[in-house]
Amino acid sequence: MNNLTVMDHPLIQHKLSIMRNKDTGVKQFRETVGEVAMLMTYEATRDLPVIDVEVETPVAKTVCKELAGKKLAIVPILRAGLGMVDGVLQIVPSAKVGHIGLYRDPETLEPVEYYCKMPSDIEDREVIIVDPMLATGGSSSAAIGFMKGYTKRSIKLMCIIAAPEGIARIQRDHPDVHIFCAAVDEKLNDHGYIIPGLGDAGDRIFGTK
Ligand code: PRP
Ligand code: URA
Repeated sequence: MNNLTVMDHPLIQHKLSIMRNKDTGVKQFRETVGEVAMLMTYEATRDLPVIDVEVETPVAKTVCKELAGKKLAIVPILRAGLGMVDGVLQIVPSAKVGHIGLYRDPETLEPVEYYCKMPSDIEDREVIIVDPMLATGGSSSAAIGFMKGYTKRSIKLMCIIAAPEGIARIQRDHPDVHIFCAAVDEKLNDHGYIIPGLGDAGDRIFGTK
């Protein structure tokens, strides 16, 4: 499928099974979300531009690579996206973090914005939006739409579990945005939950149920 990378690395798949298990507690669930996000970041940042820099090793001068220019902004969709931020920052510690607060109206399943705060230099940063769940795609599509008003650079979407309906929505609304996920599940149920999924990601990360 266009602009879709499914990261089926064995380490990610193993951790995903832990997350799906209803008996996994809050502490382990939260830690595992962070670990999966860290592993996914490795692939999602593969195309970051680099420049040559001269470095002196203890024995000789050499030309190496470093990341070019203004780098990344990580933008979690509150709340559940917050669970992925530390994992991303573990391997891209210079990334800045913007926040978008959205919740799904339980009746209409439409996203409602309640918070937005971006780094001051966001327009020059490549953006990775993070949210563990891509269900109907309404929240992510709205977040991508907001971010297109903030940055001139590319936008990627990194989620952990995606439903086919959500992928189709993003590909329709934002064909320029690359989606990275760890699994494409079967379908949505009548309440907009991903089947088999992992339940409510926000509740499982923060222990609110
Ligand atoms: C969840 C999830 C996504 C959204 C996905 O958040 O973290 O943001 O639902 O659903 P969609 O693709 O149909 O929009 P939720 O609205 O439950 O808020 P929370 O993160 O505060 O739990
Ligand atoms: N949000 C979640 O947290 N889980 C789902 O399955 C769908 C939306």
